[in-house]
Amino acid sequence: VGAYRRVVRPLLFGLPADRGHDLAQAAMRLPGAGRLMGAGGRVDDPRLATSLAGLALRNPVGLAPGLDKNGSMLKGLRHLGFGYIVVGSATLAARRGNPRPRLVRYPDRRSLANSMGLPNRGVDRLVEVLRGRQAGDVPVIASVCGFTPDETLALVEKVAPYASGVEIGLVCPNTTDSVRMRELENFTRLAKELPRDLQGPLFVKLPPDHSPQERAFLLDLADVCVEYGIDGVCISGGREMLEPKLAVGRGSLAGRATYAAALDSVTAVAVHTKGRLAIKASGGIFTGEDAAAMLRAGATTVEVYSAFVFEGPQVASTINRGLLRLADAGALALSGAVPPPSSANR
Ligand SMILES: Cc1cc2nc3c(=O)[nH]c(=O)nc-3n(C[C@H](O)[C@H](O)[C@H](O)COP(=O)(O)O)c2cc1C
Repeated sequence: VGAYRRVVRPLLFGLPADRGHDLAQAAMRLPGAGRLMGAGGRVDDPRLATSLAGLALRNPVGLAPGLDKNGSMLKGLRHLGFGYIVVGSATLAARRGNPRPRLVRYPDRRSLANSMGLPNRGVDRLVEVLRGRQAGDVPVIASVCGFTPDETLALVEKVAPYASGVEIGLVCPNTTDSVRMRELENFTRLAKELPRDLQGPLFVKLPPDHSPQERAFLLDLADVCVEYGIDGVCISGGREMLEPKLAVGRGSLAGRATYAAALDSVTAVAVHTKGRLAIKASGGIFTGEDAAAMLRAGATTVEVYSAFVFEGPQVASTINRGLLRLADAGALALSGAVPPPSSANR
């Protein structure tokens, strides 16, 4: 058991979840913190290299959106061995998010409930941070969440020139002041109007599905993505739930408890779209085995959030090492796509 689980996690988990999260995030922003935390842990093996809708990645393990909402931790996070990092979700205007508590941990289930409500400093601040990135850094995908199709278009146009790729989040379960864009017509209109000349790939984070109706809707959304040339999707297994410990009384579940649902959705979308969309899988991925099952089901990459909270900053390395062990044992075919020089990634 590493230092994170032996020493750091008990300290953080001794605090209320919101405070522990704030403290961990503040630590990530300290100069040199990421370098220290990532020291000696990074796994660099050409077999792990892959192409995510044309984006060359050193490995298929990404950091999911929500942890670094404003890009303020990028300097530290880039040392932790992730193949890519998703920052955001950013909205057009800055938001305070919901009142606290807005995060609850379930350590026995390695899961979290959150009702963050998209707190962030607004897209313009995110753009400022992204402009300062160095060539050759780990690819950064910017996640944006608009409350109307026009807002979403504006967000995409603002971040696209400065990010390696853009992700549109259709999953904003913890917001009430929004025109929800879950309706197919809205999404189709948006997809039609999205710019086609972006320098990097465009992803859509689809809503999770937990019923036959939601499954049909998910596949309809995926069809729209294929039809209008969206490069890839992110599939997660979250679930809205009542949680009296959250100030707003409800939130969405993430972590291990969502893994089976996420794997099932990934499988369904992969079968349905037959390789025409890149798939990023998110939901309860903790180990190389978890990640391998997602890749075998048709995902191109996996993204983690809860595993970072429960396992600490070595999590990308742990998962990548697990993938290499499975490949050595003949249990997983890795793509080993030769990445172009990293400066080709913005
Ligand atoms: C506290 C918290 C905040 C999150 N914020 C965002 C967000 O801003 N945008 C987004 O697309 N997903 C957000 N997510 C969802 C994660 O990106 C991820 O899809 C989800 O947590 C499932 O992965 P996991 O089981 O590894 O945690 C958030 C999740 C948590 C726990």
